Amino acid sequence: MNDFIEKNIGLMIVLIIVAVSFGGIVEIVPLMSQKVVTEPIDGLEPLPPLALEGRDIYIREGCTVCHSQMIRPLRAEVERYGHYSVAGELVYDHPFVFGSKRTGPDLARVGQLYSDDWHRAHLLDPRSVVPGSIMPSYPWLFERAIDLEVLPKKLAALQTLGVPYTDEDIENATVGLENSTEADAIIAYLQQLGTLITERR
Ligand code: HEC
Repeated sequence: MNDFIEKNIGLMIVLIIVAVSFGGIVEIVPLMSQKVVTEPIDGLEPLPPLALEGRDIYIREGCTVCHSQMIRPLRAEVERYGHYSVAGELVYDHPFVFGSKRTGPDLARVGQLYSDDWHRAHLLDPRSVVPGSIMPSYPWLFERAIDLEVLPKKLAALQTLGVPYTDEDIENATVGLENSTEADAIIAYLQQLGTLITERR
């Protein structure tokens, strides 16, 4: 039997795929039917428009390259960053911004840890608040206004994906944001990260 399979490369490829997929299927398929991964946790709301804009800027600027947003249920992580990440916090996230590398700290629960002023100083010049920091500066975020044309369309797009924005939310998406900069948006995003679960560092 072994001989036969090893001499038929096509069959061997198929059997390898079956063997390798098995582990994935066993882990992934049961998750698809579990409520805990699809139901929002208590109090979860879609991001306010300014924070949603900030999230897109976070992705555009590549913050995910150095920062994860995924606290694993390991003692070292929970003691440093707070309660581990749960799926129900993230059901309105499209796309996810888990990241995969931590040049800087995990940001999943960084919300409310620092003041807005601290973030402003940090984004403008990280070394001014954290001596020796290797994080880059992002001065242009303070000069650019957010794109008010596209913002309502972003809410509408997410609505079609099942994020519970109302038509009214979409209509009023830009109210009060006329003078907002990209820095305001990214700070609004950072300040709400992980705040629904209060077990913090
Ligand atoms: C080249 C890697 C790198 C990139 C890119 C980067 N950071 Fe950082 N970040 C760091 C490092 C290193 C630290 C730790 C030192 C410090 O606080 O400045 C840090 C710290 C932080 C902190 C403080 C976290 C804490 O728990 O104290 C925040 C908030 C933050 N970064 C936000 C951002 C945002 C927003 C972006 C994108 C605009 C970004 N970072 C891009 C490397 C990076």
